[in-house]
Amino acid sequence: MNKKKIIVAITGASGAVYAKLLLDNLVKLSDQIEKIGVVMSDNAKEVWRFELEHNGYEKYPFDFYQKMDFNAPFASGSAKFDTMIIVPCSMGTLGRIAHGISNDLISRAADVILKERRKLIAVVRDTPFSLIHINNMKTVTEAGGIICPANPSFYSLPKSIEEVAQTVISRVIDLAGLEQESYRWNE
Ligand SMILES: Cc1cc2nc3c(=O)[nH]c(=O)nc-3n(C[C@H](O)[C@H](O)[C@H](O)COP(=O)(O)O)c2cc1C
Repeated sequence: MNKKKIIVAITGASGAVYAKLLLDNLVKLSDQIEKIGVVMSDNAKEVWRFELEHNGYEKYPFDFYQKMDFNAPFASGSAKFDTMIIVPCSMGTLGRIAHGISNDLISRAADVILKERRKLIAVVRDTPFSLIHINNMKTVTEAGGIICPANPSFYSLPKSIEEVAQTVISRVIDLAGLEQESYRWNE
């Protein structure tokens, strides 16, 4: 099996629970993964503390990079990270990516992933969307990215906030090409 090199970017949209669940899931799937690099925006840390009431992002056994660290391997295509997941993805970060404004590690890493024709998954979160947001999602999709909105489903009858959020993260894990046990409709 080809092990994956994954970038996880966490931005300041609401939905820190999605980021936490993704990191929890990736810990469990570590036998399928060669490397995970994580980068958080300033507001991502703020929102995580506010919504989850702890600094739990510090405990994960992954390589964390500062948001302006352009020495991170995935700031260059040569490092061959194959997948980038932005969870949650703010409209600000989406806009910077759509317009090629690589002025921090998150937007630069996404720019690299798109130019190298690798996999970018953006778990966008806001509601409602303006035409600017919709056009930016269209642009990123046309450039090869996958817009996977933070829209949970309910047909698995989730019982808690985490179970609701897991319905999104299970789709993200599928999109990233990782094998997992998860609820499958009518199976
Ligand atoms: C509690 C909180 C919730 C927020 N929720 C959202 C959101 O759901 N979507 C969004 O696009 N921005 C949201 N924002 C605003 C972003 O954090 C802000 O636009 C920031 O500049 C985005 O930059 P970043 O992508 O570098 O984190 C929220 C901010 C706070 C403090």
